[in-house]
Amino acid sequence: MAVCLAPSMLSIDFTKVGEQLALIEQAGVPYLHLDVMDGVFVPNISFGMPVIKGIRKASHMVFDAHLMIVDPERYIEDVRKAGADIINFHVEATKDAAGCIAKIKESGAKVGITIKPATPVDAIVPYLADIDMVLVMTVEPGFGGQKFMAEQMQKVEQLAARKKEYGYTYDIEVDGGVTLDNVRTVLDAGANIIVAGSAVFGKEDIVKAASDFMAICKEYEQA
Ligand code: DX5
Ligand code: ZN
Repeated sequence: MAVCLAPSMLSIDFTKVGEQLALIEQAGVPYLHLDVMDGVFVPNISFGMPVIKGIRKASHMVFDAHLMIVDPERYIEDVRKAGADIINFHVEATKDAAGCIAKIKESGAKVGITIKPATPVDAIVPYLADIDMVLVMTVEPGFGGQKFMAEQMQKVEQLAARKKEYGYTYDIEVDGGVTLDNVRTVLDAGANIIVAGSAVFGKEDIVKAASDFMAICKEYEQA
């Protein structure tokens, strides 16, 4: 199974976006995680369609959009048109998760469902057969640079066990507070896509940080 890194653009130096994206792409980073926040679902506002559209021209990475917005069904089409390859929506943010899944599929993007720290795996069990990714939050969504919640690994383990038991194919992504010191805990629990914001773009040497993460991912991929 592919094990890979998805640096979060939230922590990029916004005076050097093109340059920093090129650096990590050249270093072989496959995914870019894009945190879209509306100031309602989470107490913060980040960036949206114009930014995604702009960087789409400058990057071949797989764009992994993480929508932290209420009623995400309103914007699925636009996020896809802007250039997202994977669209993750929060199950807590919509009254119609099945409708969101259908809309994302219709758009041609891959479908991801995200759960906040207080949301149990049970909340998304009905959808697991139909989706490409589950994103488990290991911080309260809204801000980069928070502390990793290790207890969330129970949910990753449950998702990995269900995946095996039923032959599901979803990727398990973990987002929030992941560092080089705790990434092995995340991978040991069964996640295979690692989001890291401050632990990559917040570092002096972003290429070294990304490469160190990817070396660990490779190790797990080959295991
Ligand atoms: C938080 C975002 C994360 C965030 C991760 O709401 O979903 O993707 O950027 O940042 P770090 O890795 O610094 O916790
Ligand atoms: Zn995120």
